[in-house]
Amino acid sequence: MNDRPSIPTRRLAADAAGVAEAARLLRAGDLVAFPTETVYGLGGDATDPAAVAKIFAAKARPRLNPLIAHLPDRAAALDRGAFDDHAQRLAAAFWPGPLTLVVPATVRTDVCALARAGLSSVALRVPASGLARDLLAQVGRPVAGPSANASGRLSPTSADHVLADLAGRIAAVLDGGDAPVGVESTVVACLGGAPRLLRPGGITRAAIVAVLGCDLAGDEAADPVRPAGPGLLASHYAPRARLRLDARHVEPGDAVLLFGADQPHGLDRAGAVVNLSPRGDLAEAAARLFAALRALDASGAAVIAVATIPATGLGEAIMDRLRRAAAPR
Ligand code: TXA
Ligand code: MG
Repeated sequence: MNDRPSIPTRRLAADAAGVAEAARLLRAGDLVAFPTETVYGLGGDATDPAAVAKIFAAKARPRLNPLIAHLPDRAAALDRGAFDDHAQRLAAAFWPGPLTLVVPATVRTDVCALARAGLSSVALRVPASGLARDLLAQVGRPVAGPSANASGRLSPTSADHVLADLAGRIAAVLDGGDAPVGVESTVVACLGGAPRLLRPGGITRAAIVAVLGCDLAGDEAADPVRPAGPGLLASHYAPRARLRLDARHVEPGDAVLLFGADQPHGLDRAGAVVNLSPRGDLAEAAARLFAALRALDASGAAVIAVATIPATGLGEAIMDRLRRAAAPR
């Protein structure tokens, strides 16, 4: 990863000039990381195989793992796939917002085959972030955007996180401050039959079931060792330190990730401590998750002990990310 020529990565401000410059770079085939409400995306023109190839190279991401195409509004997204009844309902309820729909591609799908990893389906998303939507409208083409981290590492929720992983490998990052949701979008496949949850995320399972009025197919999303979709590998979102989940006690020197008022035994022996939400709020915890893991990792501890976090509501996405971070590498 060190043999690539280094390019100066610019930090663009979240103003009209910054957005215009980001759009110009994307239209020219360069890579620009951009903020969404979930995490920062590593943007490239989804219609241009050369730009998409640069995304895979910058992230060192396996090319078998397809990318999400981002659109500025619902109409632009609906135009690029075949939406059955379920997909239409979910799009109406949750776009713009932290939901990605995987639907069959059509002849009107201009997301290139490389971005789709050669699949006959396409992953589409309309982010809620106003800055992202301004940018996407100015680009005027779908923008492919995986999370803007090195493949397999923690997702970025700030421009600083992006630069820590990708400085020298991308043209610019549009700095929109901290991402408010903090975990990635929920990915739902609507490919005929019952919709399938491929990745829990910013929209809860309960909210999706309520809109659909029917159950989701299967439940592979709950099982990190049996991937439901390409790229949903067990080991992912990995800090350098080893994670110990549901920790009831702290070993000397452990870094500790807390939630709510519970205190594991021996907390006074901890090296570093972060509480995701002292008041036990899962939305607050999700927003802080990746920054907290980065901070605890930076403490140099060999182990991050993670207290019990309920896997309900947004906790399902939080625990999904933590289980993948804890999986053997
Ligand atoms: O919140 C998010 O979704 C962020 C922001 C930047 O939008 N993006 C993101 O992208 O998390 P990425 O590439 O890290 O995750 C996309 C997931 C992957 O697990 C990929 O395998 C899955 O979506 N995916 C994409 N296209 C698919 C397809 N056609 N079929 C099945 N899964 C697909
Ligand atoms: Mg990712």
